[in-house]
Amino acid sequence: MKIYVCPTYDVMSKKAADVMSAQLILKPDSVLGLATGSSPLGLYGELVERCERGEISFEKVTTVNLDEYCGLSPDNDQSYSYFMHKNLFDRVNIRPENVHLPDGTNTDAEAETKRYDALIASVGGVDMQLLGIGVDGHIGFNEPADHFSVGTVRVALTESTIEANSRFFASEDEVPRYAYSMGCGTILNADKILFIANGKNKAEILEQAFFGPVTPQVPASLLQLVADKVYAFVDAEAGALLAANHPEEVILV
Ligand code: F6R
Repeated sequence: MKIYVCPTYDVMSKKAADVMSAQLILKPDSVLGLATGSSPLGLYGELVERCERGEISFEKVTTVNLDEYCGLSPDNDQSYSYFMHKNLFDRVNIRPENVHLPDGTNTDAEAETKRYDALIASVGGVDMQLLGIGVDGHIGFNEPADHFSVGTVRVALTESTIEANSRFFASEDEVPRYAYSMGCGTILNADKILFIANGKNKAEILEQAFFGPVTPQVPASLLQLVADKVYAFVDAEAGALLAANHPEEVILV
């Protein structure tokens, strides 16, 4: 695994944008797997600016997002669909029909998980998957469990995730308890994985995920199995334990 420890969130975001831009330049019709949350905001801002300057184009790009809350429709401002439109899709030249997320309004979990897997297969799989990590080690919404998911799943969010995500809602009670998430198997099948993490609350879980045992209790630890295709950009706070305890394994940016 290539782990790049960047001095700041801004540098992390710019470097990640460099990698994603290179992907779009090399393969203009890329399928991008995308994530929501605080970690990619800077990266998305960079991509928007580069697109405005004509340096990159989303004209032929297809996207599949990692996850969506169950019960929220795309026009709900807490939905991941809303987040993606606000922070990226509505600000670049992507075709609306090429944008895909799980449908949080579909109450038939079996049908929705199958539909999303079929959709990902129909676009030929993911060329570059963007990933953040939860403080509990989740990737997508694959929470710590006793087994790894393969395809898309409907998951019950853990207390730690509900608490972490309550910052975006009026109260913790309003955080949906379930979500649809791309499965760990699909994530690992992406051609390349662009991983980002920032902030000191990610430092411990990053060390566990990258250097601890591979276990479904830390879903991100799976990335060790596909280390060759993972490019991890973290800021100095998130990367503090990686840099201190595994200096030979990190690249200081
Ligand atoms: C979001 C997602 C999550 C986040 C993770 C980190 O689509 O799949 O796994 O990447 O919860 O969230 P932030 O970036 O807000 O710390």
